[in-house]
Amino acid sequence: MNQVSQPKFRHTPVLVDEVCALMINDRSGVYIDGTFGLGGHSKAISLLLNADATLIGIDQDESALAQFDSSLIKQTLHLRCTNFENLDQVLVDLNVTKVHGILLDLGLNSFSLDDPERGFAFSLDGPLDMRFDRSNEFTAETVINDYSQEQLADIMYRFGEERNSRRIARKIVDMRTKKRLTQIDELREAVAGCVDPRFRNKSLARVFQAFRIEVNREMDVLETILNTSIQVLAPAGRIAVISYHSLEDRMVKNHFRDLSQDIPRQPGMHDSEVKVPLLKRISGKPVIASQEESESNPRARSAKLRVAERTSHAAD
Ligand SMILES: C[S@@+](CC[C@H](N)C(=O)[O-])C[C@H]1O[C@@H](n2cnc3c(N)ncnc32)[C@H](O)[C@@H]1O
Repeated sequence: MNQVSQPKFRHTPVLVDEVCALMINDRSGVYIDGTFGLGGHSKAISLLLNADATLIGIDQDESALAQFDSSLIKQTLHLRCTNFENLDQVLVDLNVTKVHGILLDLGLNSFSLDDPERGFAFSLDGPLDMRFDRSNEFTAETVINDYSQEQLADIMYRFGEERNSRRIARKIVDMRTKKRLTQIDELREAVAGCVDPRFRNKSLARVFQAFRIEVNREMDVLETILNTSIQVLAPAGRIAVISYHSLEDRMVKNHFRDLSQDIPRQPGMHDSEVKVPLLKRISGKPVIASQEESESNPRARSAKLRVAERTSHAAD
């Protein structure tokens, strides 16, 4: 086997058959993989598309895109290193006006999680970084050292649903009066000092998730792309979102629900009360991984896939 041609890291795409079955509606269409990663989903999507289809892969992590062997995609492939919140600009640059499918497989790649230098995993030792896009200057170190105690507590509560958020924030502020906190083990120590050892790992997961969401503005960028998607999806085009925590899933669920509403005009109704459905939900309940997939790929255990289709009503 030729070792040189092997990708450096492996990432098993989650719910890949379900994404392909539910999202692809036009085999000659334009498809956006907004979270390209190592291209696992894109490769599978490409196998089902006709040669005249187009794939646009976006990822803000250039180390992910750099590993991809583009010869694996038989259609036209455009790779862009940017935040998916810039999708509208990417499409303007490529002269694309409508797309037929958008996939968002949120979160981070296994190889980023496993890299101690990225600071995502609470079990590893490395810097307090947590950036998806390493060209940004804003890191977890900035948040942890420069935010007020109240802001720290709010982030852990809001984005991590961590019940001990106030105590942990107080401990962080106490620790940082002695020295600037720069390492994962220091955040681990702050959490460990405030939580019963039996629940420590769960709290650590919640706290790390919360700071990661803040560093990468994950909720804001998700809201932006959900809104952009409505503008760029062709009628019958589909959006598929895989989320890994309840905050993201709730945002996707509510967005799909709100835009699926059909409230016809009644006498005496104000214009703002009338709603035409811009989306049709393809999956009522979220699609989750089979037991077999969950056993073979632990990342799949928390995954929830929701899919919606653009109607032909005009958005204005
Ligand atoms: C779960 S992985 C996707 C894996 C991919 N589906 C595959 O099969 O290889 C998520 C990827 O999305 C990227 N990402 C997360 N948020 C992003 C954003 N706002 N804009 C662009 N890329 C983003 C991360 O850098 C990561 O590579």
